[in-house]
This record gives sequence, C-alpha cells and structure tokens, in this order.
Amino acid sequence: MPSRMVYLSGEYLAEQEAKISIFDSAVMLGDTVTESTRTFRRRPFKLERHIRRLYKSLKVTRIDPGMSPEQMLRTTLDLLERNFPQHEAVESGDSSEDCWIVHNISRGLSIAGADPTRQQGGATVMIFNQPLDLTSWASFYEHGCHAVTAMSRATPSQSLDARIKNRSRLAYTLAEMEVKLVDPLAQGVIVDIQGNIAENKGGNIFAVSEGVLQTPTSANSLAGLSRETVLELADTLGIPTRQTLLQPYDLYTADELFFTSTPYCIMPATQFNGLPVGDGAVGPITQRLLQAWSELVGVDIVKQARNQLPA
Ligand SMILES: Cc1ncc(COP(=O)(O)O)c(C=O)c1O
Repeated sequence: MPSRMVYLSGEYLAEQEAKISIFDSAVMLGDTVTESTRTFRRRPFKLERHIRRLYKSLKVTRIDPGMSPEQMLRTTLDLLERNFPQHEAVESGDSSEDCWIVHNISRGLSIAGADPTRQQGGATVMIFNQPLDLTSWASFYEHGCHAVTAMSRATPSQSLDARIKNRSRLAYTLAEMEVKLVDPLAQGVIVDIQGNIAENKGGNIFAVSEGVLQTPTSANSLAGLSRETVLELADTLGIPTRQTLLQPYDLYTADELFFTSTPYCIMPATQFNGLPVGDGAVGPITQRLLQAWSELVGVDIVKQARNQLPA
C-alpha cells in the first residue's frame, strides 16, 4: 500500500499527514476505545458487528465520537475503498490483498492538570487500514503453539469491564512479556484473580473436552467476534458448546485447545505450560472449525497465512 490514506476526525489524509497532539487523551491517559476488523477477499467481515461493539464501548466509556454508527460504517467503507478498490474480488489464497481495519477513538484533547475528565473539544476519531501480516502465527495452524499462563492476573471486570475493547494495553503487554520469558514463541493465557482462565492479550480461549467446546464467559474476557463466529460454526456443525468457568486444570486435561482472534481466526495450541494438549497434534474439532470458517468466507485461511512465509 504505497500512499495509504487514513481517516482522522473528519478528514481523509495521507498517513504521513495524520498527526495528533501529544496532549491527546490517547497519549496522556490511554483513554481510547478500539476495534479491529479484517477483510476476506477484500470484503470486511462482520463490520456491522464490530461497529456495534465499538458503540457499546463508546457508550460505557462516555466518549461521544460525534458521528452515528451509520456514519462510522460509511466512513470506514469509504476509506477501505480508497485504499483497496473493491472492483475485483481476489482469489482465495492471495494474502497480499486482505487487510486490517482499525478504529481508535480517544476522548480527545486532554487538559493537563488535576482532573482527567476535563477535555477540550471533541473525540479524536482515527481509522486506518493495514496489510494483514499473518507471519507470526502462520506455522501454528499445522504444529500448534505453546500456550503459557502469565504470572500477572487479568484486570478484574469490576475495575475495567473486559467487554470494553480499549487501548489501555499495558497489563496485556506485561503479561505477554512474562510468557515470552518461558518460551519466546509462547502465546499467553491470562488467568483472573479467582484463578479462572480469562483470555489472551488479543484473543479468546477455547478448550475441547470429550467432544464439548468450552470457553470462558465474557465476565472476564472480551466478547470476541471470532469467538462468536466459532460458537456459530460449532452450532452449525452440531458440536456442543459451553460458556463456563475454566481453570488451568481444564486446559491441561483438554483434548484440544485454541485461541481465536480477528487476524488469525483460529490458532491451535498443542502444548500448555510445557505439557502436550491431548495427543500433541492439532485436533479434529479445531480442524473442522477452521475448514468451516474458510468455507464461510471463501478463503483458505491456513493457506493464506502459509503463503506469507518465506518458501
Ligand atoms: C483482549 C482481547 N481479547 C479477545 C480478543 C478477540 O476479539 P475478536 O475476536 O473480536 O478479534 C481481542 C481482540 O483484539 C482482545 O484484544
């Protein structure tokens, strides 16, 4: 994408031209809500659902974006069209054509001083597209990743509701650094203060035990839209599902384990804290779900990621 355009508070600008103040509440306070959507064959996937979740986050955080959900949708599609003209849908497997659509909305210019709720002017609305780089996950579809519990615990929802998709990412980043001390390629499993499995820094967690697909509720994890898609696909495939409390024990003893998130959709895990999950190979339910998702969107998700790896 040579001259990428971005959207900043009412204007479409070349990315180098888009600047925000060092006093923006995004910088001063990490006071920003966010969404990440991806495309499949250039078509945004579940964009309306992402925008609905965005507006829920905005409502709960009392940020007024100064535009309706319909305007946000139109602006998002307009930006996408400027960066990725839609005229031809590309063949599945061409990984260069899909992108990320990111919304970041901060409360706006923060007045430095005693009261962080005092703002000048309206929200800062930022939207950008980015080529979808899947290289760091691509090998996990075949071999599975190593899931490792972080030492730090999840921020309790009583302090910051996990359903608010926000950019205050320090806790997630520190947790991920901890798991990388164990294994540089590990993917973090964050546990809440009661000892229940919560989520990953950017994904939800599923465990398959005796044919039942289980995932934590959104009491301690983001209500992920990939999680929603997996639950929908499981229903279609007749795989029983349960949203429930899970402890590390349930992950140690699971037959299959995987993460879900917008960019990679489903990322299998074949080790948990150094022990094999099930027989140590990517399991059949995980594979069926990946296959069903690929059919749903007309893109071979695994092939698309693999194509990004050096030959
Ligand atoms: C903390 C957290 N949990 C879960 C997810 C997965 O959500 P989704 O499937 O909507 O991408 C994300 C996505 O970025 C996240 O940040």
